[in-house]
Amino acid sequence: MIDVDKIRLDFPILNREVNGKPLVYFDNAATSQTPQQVIDVIVDYYSNYNANIHRGVHTLSQEATDAYEAARKKIQEHFNAAKPYEIIFTSGTTHGINLIATGFTSFLKKGDEVIVSALEHHSNIVPWQMLCERTGAVLKVIPMNEDGELVMSVYDELLSDKTKLVFTNHISNALGTINPIETIIEKAHAVGAAVLIDGAQACPHVKPDVQALDVDFYVASAHKMCGPTGMGVLYGKEEWLEKLPPYQGGGEMIDEVTFEKTTYAGLPHKFEAGTPNICGGIAFGAAIDYMNNIGFDAIAAYENELLSYATEKLLEIDGLKIYGTSTEKTSVISFNIEGIHPYDIGTIVDKLGIAVRTGHHCAQPIMDYFKIPGTVRASFSFYNTKAEIDALVDAVKKAKMMLG
Ligand SMILES: Cc1ncc(COP(=O)(O)O)c(C=O)c1O
Repeated sequence: MIDVDKIRLDFPILNREVNGKPLVYFDNAATSQTPQQVIDVIVDYYSNYNANIHRGVHTLSQEATDAYEAARKKIQEHFNAAKPYEIIFTSGTTHGINLIATGFTSFLKKGDEVIVSALEHHSNIVPWQMLCERTGAVLKVIPMNEDGELVMSVYDELLSDKTKLVFTNHISNALGTINPIETIIEKAHAVGAAVLIDGAQACPHVKPDVQALDVDFYVASAHKMCGPTGMGVLYGKEEWLEKLPPYQGGGEMIDEVTFEKTTYAGLPHKFEAGTPNICGGIAFGAAIDYMNNIGFDAIAAYENELLSYATEKLLEIDGLKIYGTSTEKTSVISFNIEGIHPYDIGTIVDKLGIAVRTGHHCAQPIMDYFKIPGTVRASFSFYNTKAEIDALVDAVKKAKMMLG
């Protein structure tokens, strides 16, 4: 059970006002807020043991290295990766996807096929298009239906021995649909294809078990799960990470360098060139501790309650249409009101202290499918309340009156 009043005390930002009204933060799918416990870890790092890692013998460097590697271990346990070195620190989901898409360049040839879903964020589309341009591979798309669900019968038809890679998100940022990734992975493996799952939107709500999923790559961003920006994780199966070439060259990722030849460091350092976001990694570990202390089952149950409540209340507004109506859905509501531009609704509700996102949510193909310019998106976290949802519903009604 979530004690939301107690949890809210952990988030200093929730005390602030916006435009003279108490902040209602419903832009959690874009980035989550940061609890004091994580802020304290960041302050402690810069106040007490800020130093470069891995290559110093002095005490501060040892302390920073130990804390950074302890965070890696924590993340390994969280995702149930078999080995700590299967956890690569990145700057976020986008970085993780680009690392794999670039790495696959030498593995693909003209005529090979890769499969993406219609529900993707641009960061899980564009790097693969670039890969196809480099290699001559062909990008195939699993379509979606009116509810915002993937049409799995077409996925079956797309798969063949030409398929080398499949990539899809675990949960859609624009519609909240939870994709059947277990089936997607199993079927891809049956034709010998590797699978990358974009977990950016899933990790704030669920705890993925990468071994149970048998997924080849799983990527996520810390800033969507109570951690800092500029930090993320790429999980990769050891055999894949060993095979893939380094992404960037530089310090940290080498074994020996001469002008004739360089040999690369082992995992995970092969993929972590340069000074990493040390504080970010340590704070990511703290964010994962924070969320696990609340418990992902409790988080999911409470957020589902918020989702049902908000869906019911918003649908009482005449002319309001929700996009993304799958029964398998997380706490994201994308909607429009007939005849009103989403941007105008967003602007008016902001005047009332409510933060929602408007636009295409970096998922233009989804907006094209529905033939709309964008939506208003309210995304709920475990620190939101039903009273805040009431405030949103009132604000949307006001916006409708003013603009309709
Ligand atoms: C599903 C999905 N994938 C990828 C991303 C990109 O994440 P980041 O900007 O943290 O790299 C996002 C961000 O909104 C997302 O929602």
